[in-house]
Amino acid sequence: MTEIVLEDEPAVRTRTIKRHPQEAFDSMRTAGRLAAECLDMISAHVAPGVTTQALDDLIRAFVFDHNALSATIGYRGYRHASCISLNHVICHGIPGPKPLKKGDILNIDVAVVVDGWHGDTSRMFCAGEPKVKARRLVDTTYDAMMAGVNAVRPGATFRDIGRAIQTRAESEGFSVVRDFCGHGIGQIFHDTPNVVHYAEYKDRFGAVHQAPDIRLEPGMFFTIEPMINEGRPDVKFLKDGWTAVARDKSLSAQFEHSVGVTETGVEIFTLSPAGLHKPPYA
Ligand code: MF3
Ligand code: CO
Ligand code: CO
Repeated sequence: MTEIVLEDEPAVRTRTIKRHPQEAFDSMRTAGRLAAECLDMISAHVAPGVTTQALDDLIRAFVFDHNALSATIGYRGYRHASCISLNHVICHGIPGPKPLKKGDILNIDVAVVVDGWHGDTSRMFCAGEPKVKARRLVDTTYDAMMAGVNAVRPGATFRDIGRAIQTRAESEGFSVVRDFCGHGIGQIFHDTPNVVHYAEYKDRFGAVHQAPDIRLEPGMFFTIEPMINEGRPDVKFLKDGWTAVARDKSLSAQFEHSVGVTETGVEIFTLSPAGLHKPPYA
């Protein structure tokens, strides 16, 4: 006799924040580790003269060789396995034929799907030795992301995460990009909620924007992925419809982890197994 197995409900983006069961942590660990290993792999290839398309080719091959899917290929018409954002590009830089130059700083962002679960992570890399100012921006952006991650525990709020990030970034005179945010993650790539990287700011019309006071609960999964600019936070989009640059052309940096709220604190799903959490400064 054949047993009829009913499929689970398909995963859909919900208006409420999902609280995932314990088994889902295992799935996120697997997906998150593969995404992190992919960035570990690519770090040896970042050098002056290498094109960002060549890096993307290596990333796509790595993901497929590990029987995973790229969450970005086919996402809203995007065609690449990574976003590679150089210097004043804030995010969603499209891999292409331009070779890296000595002193470039770049964010490489990969999102993979393993057994239906998403791992989404990005880090900064350097082609050769960066300038002192670029280095300070990269270090501060990493510290700001980790301050956000370390604010995660049951009972804290999303605003606490934003405050930790904003405080760290602004203490160095840098600014937090407001136009992009982290997101819920799991079986859906970009789920509820939007995870903003500020506690509060006033826009150019004087309107005050506040991060939501929503409390964190065990089983919530989301990304923390602050984009920090050396200058003003304002964004401009290039004609390709994807690339977001700092309007004032100042340098921009970003790091991203996928995390889960545990009973007592936070689990980072996308830690680097090789310990390559920050770029070596040659
Ligand atoms: N990886 C990005 C994020 O952190 C999303 C990139 S979507 C793409 O959410 F289509 F631009 F790839
Ligand atoms: Co993300
Ligand atoms: Co990402």
